Amino acid sequence: MSDAKKAIAYAHENRERFTKELSEFIKIESISTDDAYKAQVTQAAEWAAAHLRTIGIENVKLMPTGGHPVVYGDLLKKPGAPTVLIYGHYDVQPVDPIELWETAPFDAVVKGDYLFARGSSDMKGQVMATINAVEAIMKTGDFPVNLKFMLEGEEEIGSMNMGNFLPKHKDLFKADFCLNPDAGAISADEPTITFGLRGLAYFELHVYGPPRDLHSGLFGGTVHNPAQALAELIAGMHDANGTVTLPGFYDSVRVVTDQEREDTAKLPTTPESYLQQTGVPALWGEKEFTPALRTGARPTLEINGLLSGWTGPGSKTVLPARAMAKISCRLVPDQDPAIVEKQLKQYLEEHAPKTITWEVKPLHDSPWAITDTNTAGVRALDAAMETVWGRKPLYRREGGSIGVVAMLQNICGVESGLVGGGLPDDNIHSPNERMHLPTWHKNMDAFIHFFFNMK
Ligand code: BES
Ligand code: MN
Repeated sequence: MSDAKKAIAYAHENRERFTKELSEFIKIESISTDDAYKAQVTQAAEWAAAHLRTIGIENVKLMPTGGHPVVYGDLLKKPGAPTVLIYGHYDVQPVDPIELWETAPFDAVVKGDYLFARGSSDMKGQVMATINAVEAIMKTGDFPVNLKFMLEGEEEIGSMNMGNFLPKHKDLFKADFCLNPDAGAISADEPTITFGLRGLAYFELHVYGPPRDLHSGLFGGTVHNPAQALAELIAGMHDANGTVTLPGFYDSVRVVTDQEREDTAKLPTTPESYLQQTGVPALWGEKEFTPALRTGARPTLEINGLLSGWTGPGSKTVLPARAMAKISCRLVPDQDPAIVEKQLKQYLEEHAPKTITWEVKPLHDSPWAITDTNTAGVRALDAAMETVWGRKPLYRREGGSIGVVAMLQNICGVESGLVGGGLPDDNIHSPNERMHLPTWHKNMDAFIHFFFNMK
């Protein structure tokens, strides 16, 4: 039996235990966006570190970053062989709206082919798929390459401390290639390698009217309602075609080439697949681009949340003192988050009425990334996926963001292979997040082949 086959047999025999261990990891409520969960985020880092030690990874430690720690570990037994850096994040998104969950968010529940829980697909499941593949190889023979782990606790808040942390530890994270399983796949039957990610610039826009809430009968019609003023400002941020109207927003956006249009048109991500996955009655957006190009290659401006006035049960005739919108822009090459902040402020300077005052609070940002697919690492992944799925992977640009990918390129000179078992209907960041177990298992097998292909 080949070494890869032995490791795969081990992985198959241990599937039940792997699911149990994943459930323990999931149980820890590591919500990085909410300071109230700081202790839980650290606990998840400690759990991951302890698990790495259990399977025999060496030099495991929690490294302070100024925010949530990075878990490091290594296995450097093959002088001369390539070094693979494994990236993952152990933080998760908030669970709200909690009332829409069918099972408790942090109690992993298996129903049919799916394991339901916050963090199952994004991405504790993907982290464990990788660690399980490593364990399977370690327990059945010699590890064919050198390994390093970088498990982050701030991915869901734009990796805000990584820009300071990485330059200080450049040598420690030196590697020939980074395996990053946080990018998902087009479908269970279509293995996917992602070569583009969008960046992000996240803001709060606060609109202030009177110094306190007013009676809407006494003052309505005479005082500009901040909720209305905010709605008017937001409504003006797109034109009727869905194009963003911030001044200069598209100035540094790379033009979509004919070649990219052609390549993207061949992907199975069609208008129909977007309709089916989202359940909306009709799609929306810039009509000169297909939905796959709109999400992969074009920038956006999204309202992520709105807050103002009375939203409790029943009625209250109030003219609210203030209104707030959470706004984020997905960015593409060669946009810069700092410039987008200026463009948002310029739009507000030009359009905000004299009846209110406003303030923009930047929360965090994340760089876009285009990865090099012409590397030994991507070839090893491509071959591994073909072995397991029996077909070549598809290559696409994805609309989500993973801050560390560009930072690894720019700071450490390391290229990433973006893959993963997350599927478009896994409800990541939404209620009832789930992970497709058959794809999870296939990915473990593919990662085993990948490590042997790398040597
Ligand atoms: N795993 C996702 C990003 C992703 C999803 C990439 C699907 C490719 C395919 C990641 O955990 C994520 O959600 N990132 C955040 C980062 C942001 C807060 C800076 C995102 O994209 O919203
Ligand atoms: Mn996420």
